[in-house]
Amino acid sequence: MDITTSYLGLKLKNPLIVSSSTLTATVEGVVNCEKAGAGAVVLKSIFEEQILADIKKEEGFNDELYNMNPEMQQYLHTYVRGNEIDLYTRLIKESKAAVSIPVIASINCTDKGEWTSIAKKFQDAGADALELNISISPFDINLHPKDIEQEYFDILAQVKKCISIPVAVKIGDHFTNICAMVNQLAQNGAKAVVLFNRFYNADIDVNEMKAVPGNALSVKEENSCTLRYISLATSQQVSCELSASTGVYTAEDVIKQILAGATSVQICSTLYHHGLAYIGTMLNEMKAWMEKHNFNSIADFKGKANKKEDIKVLERLQYLRRNQEKTN
Ligand SMILES: Cc1cc2nc3c(=O)[nH]c(=O)nc-3n(C[C@H](O)[C@H](O)[C@H](O)COP(=O)(O)O)c2cc1C
Repeated sequence: MDITTSYLGLKLKNPLIVSSSTLTATVEGVVNCEKAGAGAVVLKSIFEEQILADIKKEEGFNDELYNMNPEMQQYLHTYVRGNEIDLYTRLIKESKAAVSIPVIASINCTDKGEWTSIAKKFQDAGADALELNISISPFDINLHPKDIEQEYFDILAQVKKCISIPVAVKIGDHFTNICAMVNQLAQNGAKAVVLFNRFYNADIDVNEMKAVPGNALSVKEENSCTLRYISLATSQQVSCELSASTGVYTAEDVIKQILAGATSVQICSTLYHHGLAYIGTMLNEMKAWMEKHNFNSIADFKGKANKKEDIKVLERLQYLRRNQEKTN
């Protein structure tokens, strides 16, 4: 049975990718992911702020703003070890030397700027591809949606100017028209789009009466938003691959995302719950399902639940139909 897939022009031995997280923050973590059977890994992101702070440190830190702002100094000294770019480059190089599965570097960023040229260092270190986790805050009342979207395209264009390895863009689900966004990212050179990044949830502690971080891990039910937009985007033949992320917990969830049209599936929270060995369980269960349905390859069922009638179920019509069914 052939469970290989192609993602970002890379051959993956199976569609399960360990997504960017602390599981992939060290060479040892990456090796463990390969041993557990992962098809590829996305390394823990380096943040644009880390890259910028590193550049500034190299320049001698004569930044007026930095010198005037004790909070910024505190931030940089707490979170930036001063050689972030070198450390990340080393993580890529050593991971590549230690495993044979594809290693995808990841940058978390919010705007185009001098940091983008650093992507070339990650390419030179051997990264097979780059995932850009673009996380622009959609909360600023002065930011117009069109300008936010344009920033995504500008960041992508600027990074693509510096490197030749394939680029995936990981986005959140806060867009007015997600399918159009995916389509435009593809037209602007994204080889793949990852749906979706998951923002940290917020909560409020009623005793302390203050905002606190919510759950870092997703719950299984969150996968329906991913499923919906993977289906809706692929059914309109967007010209990029789609990688499904958020709420993928079981082999059944993986199968669903592929049936919807995903080329690969990224997993994170389920591995925090069950351990890396769960990758093997998911793969075995996926193979058993393929056997039961006489599928010999991933291509045999990719996008199979993406026909016109499937899409109707995913659109608004379903409410109308449900109501009609009730009244009949
Ligand atoms: C502890 C932790 C660290 C993470 N760090 C990153 C990161 O550095 N970059 C990134 O793009 N996503 C990061 N993520 C998000 C995951 O890659 C993933 O998109 C998210 O958890 C949703 O997938 P899941 O439902 O399989 O967990 C992190 C998630 C967790 C739980």
